[in-house]
Amino acid sequence: MSISKKDLKQITTSTLLEMKKLGNKISMLTSYDYSMAKIVDKAGIDIILVGDSAANVMAGYETTLPITLDMMIYHGASVVRAAERALIVVDLPFGTYQSDPLQALHSAVRVMKETGAHALKLEGGEEIEESIQKILNAGIPVMGHLGLTPQSINKFGGYGLRAKEEAEAEKLKKDAKLLEDLGCFSIVLEKIPSKLAQEVAQNAHIPIIGIGAGNQVDGQVLVAQDLFGMNIDFKPKFVRRYADLNEIMFNAVQCYIDDIKSGNFPSEKESF
Ligand code: KIV
Repeated sequence: MSISKKDLKQITTSTLLEMKKLGNKISMLTSYDYSMAKIVDKAGIDIILVGDSAANVMAGYETTLPITLDMMIYHGASVVRAAERALIVVDLPFGTYQSDPLQALHSAVRVMKETGAHALKLEGGEEIEESIQKILNAGIPVMGHLGLTPQSINKFGGYGLRAKEEAEAEKLKKDAKLLEDLGCFSIVLEKIPSKLAQEVAQNAHIPIIGIGAGNQVDGQVLVAQDLFGMNIDFKPKFVRRYADLNEIMFNAVQCYIDDIKSGNFPSEKESF
């Protein structure tokens, strides 16, 4: 049996668990603003991630580190106002949950209260175990994130493939088990070998969502601007472009400029 769009009014964490059990793949895409989230939600996406990748694609920072809790709340609340069906997950940004569990809880509560989102995503495994536990104890659903965790970019020294070596792969498997045992409802695996991702997904009872982790997992996530082909300078191997909005938008702006310069815009019909 497969779950059709009309059967699902509002996606919940239970829906996602059911989808995993039934072998139905889960679709997840980022959004950071009202207009884009409206389109993404209406198209039928299962999860909208208000990712801290907003730091890169919305604010133009090189890493995700500078984005603040207030900025994530602004993006999260904008997306929540747009979406009717998707489960909305907001990233807790760097520096708002790593120092101690109480700080993590305060950050989590602020995002939940001020955005109306359904769940949070945190990067890391055993290092942040107590923070995750504290947030879960407050009744807030948590999605984990392992593998390439961009908030640790300065530790990794680059955005290359993670968990190629045995020791890191073993740690990742241990962390995935820990996150599931703690009560996380799902885990994102970023940029790791497909075989490893497949093994984690097979052993987990919660949905494993991949990005650069092959297709033997329970679902996929991409950054919307990458899928739409808005940023021509960024084309990693794991991105598939479904549109070339960069060219479409560029041409539209040029036509607009031409029409203004030639006096063609506005026409009489577009005037009062
Ligand atoms: O911030 C983000 O967009 C993410 C995805 C790449 C998984 O964490």
